[in-house]
Amino acid sequence: MCGIIGYTGKDDAKEIMLDALELLEYRGYDSAGIALLNENGTQIVKRAGRVKDLRNLCKEKKPVGCCGIGHTRWATHGGVCDENAHPHRFGRITLIHNGIIENYRELTEKYALEGKLASETDSEVVAAVLEHFYEGDPYSAIRKTVLKLKGTFALAIMFDDQPGKIYAVRNVSPIVAAVTEDGAILSSDVAAIVPFTTDYFVVPEFHVICLSTDGIEMFDLSGDKAEIDWLKVDWDVSRSGKGGYPFYMEKEIMEQPQVIKETILPRIRDGKPDFGKEGIPDEILRDCKRICVIACGTAMHAGLVGKSLIQAMIGIHVDVVMASEFMYNDPVVDKDTLVIAISQSGETIDTLEALKFARKCGSPSISIVNVKGASIARASEYVIYTNAGPEIAVASTKAYTTQLAVLYLITARMAVARKLWSDEQLTAFIDELCRVPEVMEAVLAKKEEIHRLTGTILNAKDVFMIGRGLDYSILLEGSLKLKEISYIHSEAYASGELKHGTIALITEDTPVIAVVTQEKLKSKEFSNIREVQSRGARVLLLLKENEELEESGQWSSVFRLPVMEDPFMVMPASVALQLIAYYVSLDKGLDVDKPRNLAKVVTVE
Ligand code: G6P
Repeated sequence: MCGIIGYTGKDDAKEIMLDALELLEYRGYDSAGIALLNENGTQIVKRAGRVKDLRNLCKEKKPVGCCGIGHTRWATHGGVCDENAHPHRFGRITLIHNGIIENYRELTEKYALEGKLASETDSEVVAAVLEHFYEGDPYSAIRKTVLKLKGTFALAIMFDDQPGKIYAVRNVSPIVAAVTEDGAILSSDVAAIVPFTTDYFVVPEFHVICLSTDGIEMFDLSGDKAEIDWLKVDWDVSRSGKGGYPFYMEKEIMEQPQVIKETILPRIRDGKPDFGKEGIPDEILRDCKRICVIACGTAMHAGLVGKSLIQAMIGIHVDVVMASEFMYNDPVVDKDTLVIAISQSGETIDTLEALKFARKCGSPSISIVNVKGASIARASEYVIYTNAGPEIAVASTKAYTTQLAVLYLITARMAVARKLWSDEQLTAFIDELCRVPEVMEAVLAKKEEIHRLTGTILNAKDVFMIGRGLDYSILLEGSLKLKEISYIHSEAYASGELKHGTIALITEDTPVIAVVTQEKLKSKEFSNIREVQSRGARVLLLLKENEELEESGQWSSVFRLPVMEDPFMVMPASVALQLIAYYVSLDKGLDVDKPRNLAKVVTVE
């Protein structure tokens, strides 16, 4: 949550930061601001609203300088207004912050700040504490301040008397940094760094970095110089733009066949799933007695599909727990429980905290993460990266399907480790998995047909999505997609459960989306569809291409899905549901990529 950027070099820092903030805006878009530091002092330009509004304000205020920090905010402490926008300034200190300072009230009292602060934010309190400790040595002031803070933070700081220098420190909330041709840059994620370089590093927690035109220095909190562990961006940098699509979401939906290939192919060797590169020993897949998947949002929905697969094919119990609830249910995890943490960003704090707790209980752990070097990847014993490339739209699409692809691979490797399948079974499974990209292409080729079918949903107040088993799991994700970007109330419901209350809400004004892809559930699912049709609901049905449809004339909206083996039908159905949500949002004229109140990376509990 919140995007931070810092640049020092020889170029106009304002332009660099505004461009970077646009790339980081998916992390929060309540307000935006920049501060530039030069020999004449510090100039701050900030306001509530989007980065484009800040850009306009900058045209008026004309800030000048080659060293600056910038921020795009997802409000936590203090409402959405100009005063609460970052950067914050206190005395000689100017800073930006991502995270939450839990003890800001105590600090306000301790350092007698009541009445002296210009904003309602926890972040400004940090600036004030830094000012209190600053006696000309930035490292010392930062060290003393950090020891007083409770909570999560990524801080980028400028001191009035240190022109050309930006200091940064973090706990949990991410900061990556890189050296540019004539200076250095830091950011919340690599998206803002790739226009400059593909070499970067993740700033370790509780380490202080200093950016200057000479490069970057790093020290630990005891003041000892620390070595930098360099990483390389390993996705195609040209992928970070919109690629000619009106929104990132459409581009990311369209990229799925390619990124699925990139996720599965390097992990299939001699026809078998292979996690040798990840160093995952077969023992942890073979010996675990149960699995606990920890994740949030879309990643949790991927976990639900994984549960169905693993329970059906491996025969061991799988729990999928919302990471935000994990700690409050007295979790029972132990050395026999394999914990799988799933996270696109690798920074979701609830997932991170739950994972750390499970590790303390002795559970072996694998994380499925998209962002290289992210906190969850580093906190787990083993990591499998989804090779989805940067996902910018707040609504997750390609990250979800690549997470699914990894879960299919894990299922198959578990079967190998436990000697459950014959060679033929394994080959059939892997061949079907390898067919996913072409099947997805077939759905994408029919995107205009899907667009036409969304007419019935466009003006709806409520939409229900019904199905059973795996179909229900897919719909949970389809429904989340629709509600988050179209603002239509949408609920996924296990169709057999409707009659226990919820069917009371079905009227002729309630469009229903039904997914029927599982042979063993088909007849029961159709009965449930009849039940809602009898109450007047118009049903948009997603059905396999080869499935006969009784009384075909009665169905006004049917979308035919290319056929795969039942456990794999999740893939084409998910793409169709993503496109439904996308077109509804597009036709409503909404900001598809940046839905209201949301942020892509959730680093607050
Ligand atoms: C936010 C995003 C969702 C995402 C969830 C979990 O709510 O908007 O798209 O599914 O966080 O994020 P993660 O990065 O852990 O997958």
